[in-house]
Amino acid sequence: MKLQDNFGRKHDYLRISITDRCNLRCIYCMGEEGIKLLDHRDVLSYEEIIGFVKFLAPLGIKKLRITGGEPLVRKGVENLIGGLNEISGIEDIALTTNGELLAPMIDKLMDNGLRRVNISLDSLKPNTYKEITRIGNLNKVLQGINIALKKGLTPLKINVVLMAGVNDEEIYDFLKLTLDDPIHVRFIEYMPLDGHDLKWSKRYLSLQVVKEKATALGFKLNPVEGLIGNGTAETWRIHGAKGTVGFIHPVSNHFCASCTRLRLTADGKFKPCLYWQEELNVRDTLNDPPALTNLIKQGLAMKHEKHLMSPGIENQEQGYVRCMAQIGG
Ligand code: 5AD
Ligand code: SF4
Repeated sequence: MKLQDNFGRKHDYLRISITDRCNLRCIYCMGEEGIKLLDHRDVLSYEEIIGFVKFLAPLGIKKLRITGGEPLVRKGVENLIGGLNEISGIEDIALTTNGELLAPMIDKLMDNGLRRVNISLDSLKPNTYKEITRIGNLNKVLQGINIALKKGLTPLKINVVLMAGVNDEEIYDFLKLTLDDPIHVRFIEYMPLDGHDLKWSKRYLSLQVVKEKATALGFKLNPVEGLIGNGTAETWRIHGAKGTVGFIHPVSNHFCASCTRLRLTADGKFKPCLYWQEELNVRDTLNDPPALTNLIKQGLAMKHEKHLMSPGIENQEQGYVRCMAQIGG
């Protein structure tokens, strides 16, 4: 069996959400009270996750990303990374984090084989950061970034969800971050997902705004090929900069045709696409290879050609889908 869908796309990348819990409450992700959390019993164990990856690796999965919620709040995440790292065929393990817990955990994560992280950071101003995350502390994230750079947890990517009237005044500051350090700032379009109370149509901005701003500021952007990653970001470098600037525009210009990714949710659902509701329960098949093979085939057959997010759905304030903390970012 190959991990190929009905549209000829081959999948080599699995995003694994290991928890729906988070130490923050970002306004574009969830309401102030948080989300209805999964029962611990419903969350896949590390053994189950490792078992699933062991099954998928010979079929072509080479790259893994660990996500949440916030993956660093789950106890023993370094042991999971260690276990995944031993699976033959896995070439790349990355982690997406809000960065608040990174500094104190970095040594044990790296000792167990973590090589790179994406840090979600939507503002460089303490007050705005606090407004966006409701309870976050910018200093802790900056400490995480500094230590990651110092210890060589690179390429270090910073994800910035761009929101009108929230952080679009900070485009210059984020661009500047790429000048002197090997930091890869990736602007992400705000997606109309479920569960939050920030009005999407009011806050959504096409990333064209960032390009125009960069040009207006006199930054010359040159295209970059082959940065490690999975091809969803269009990548540029400001002339002379050490880092790069990426644009991830799922809404204005979707990259579904080149999608190579599959997802596993914290509660053990195999999910072929972030956007569509279809998902299959992996847990019951983990000890039954023929059933698991069937489930994966079924999942791939369910994969849609593309998602339907677009600037044209202005009136759709909520997506059809669970929020990022529940799906895995
Ligand atoms: N639109 C765009 N990005 C989002 N994220 C969470 N919710 C949304 C949304 N509605 C981002 C986080 C993080 C990544 C996992 O997903 O900021 O960078
Ligand atoms: Fe937590 Fe990430 Fe959601 Fe923010 S976006 S609340 S960091 S899961």
